[in-house]
Amino acid sequence: MSHRYLLASDLDGTLVGDPEALRAFNRQLSRHPEIAIAYVTGRHLDSARQLISEQGLIIPDAIISEVGASIHLGPEWMLDIEWRRRMIRGWSPPLVRMLTDRLETLRPQPPECQSAFKCSYYLDAFDAPSILEELQRLLVVRQLDVRMVYSSGKDLDLLPPGAGKANAVRYLARRLGLPLSAVLCCGDSGNDRDMLLLPGPSAVVANAHPELAQGLPASVYRARSAFAAGVQEALGYFGWL
Ligand code: GLC
Ligand code: MG
Repeated sequence: MSHRYLLASDLDGTLVGDPEALRAFNRQLSRHPEIAIAYVTGRHLDSARQLISEQGLIIPDAIISEVGASIHLGPEWMLDIEWRRRMIRGWSPPLVRMLTDRLETLRPQPPECQSAFKCSYYLDAFDAPSILEELQRLLVVRQLDVRMVYSSGKDLDLLPPGAGKANAVRYLARRLGLPLSAVLCCGDSGNDRDMLLLPGPSAVVANAHPELAQGLPASVYRARSAFAAGVQEALGYFGWL
């Protein structure tokens, strides 16, 4: 059946966090085959798939991983090659690392969190404003086009310029033949911000990090419930259920 809607939801802290709420969400969503599902996460594909099986998440139609750097379509989890091609343009991890090596405050995340399309670091919230400014300055001086995404008061991701959750969701919606007015984006932290600002319905769950909730326009629905119950509440609010 062709889909009428797309739910583009983050995993950790959004759909995942309250197992009972997730079970209720799954029960309701399984009655709505007209809603396609994409999980949109900072994890890499294998880690997202592991979480899906551990937590008993519904098998989605697509997984957008590495903060939008990769798109895989179910049920075979084929890499979207056209999207990959776009990520390769102008992107060079060695050049990125040469810059970040100079900033001692940036601590690289463990190897399993690094990939050819995502360089990730830990950065304390206290240091973040000055370090992000300095990094931005260095990037401009070196004429490197890099997307910086800071989340949860601790995670910094450096990505290809065309990556990010919003760009990937917009691309996927077009691939599925859906307008953005039929795409609901849900999230809880900084790396979700750009997709919540897409023109179309969006929501933050009640447990969202303050960094995210601050400064979002009133058009973003603030769910009163947390985790999967918040996503379910948003689906009801926008009249999809
Ligand atoms: C996930 C990834 C991590 C990233 C974070 C924020 O936790 O594993 O590498 O920094 O999401 O996007
Ligand atoms: Mg999250």
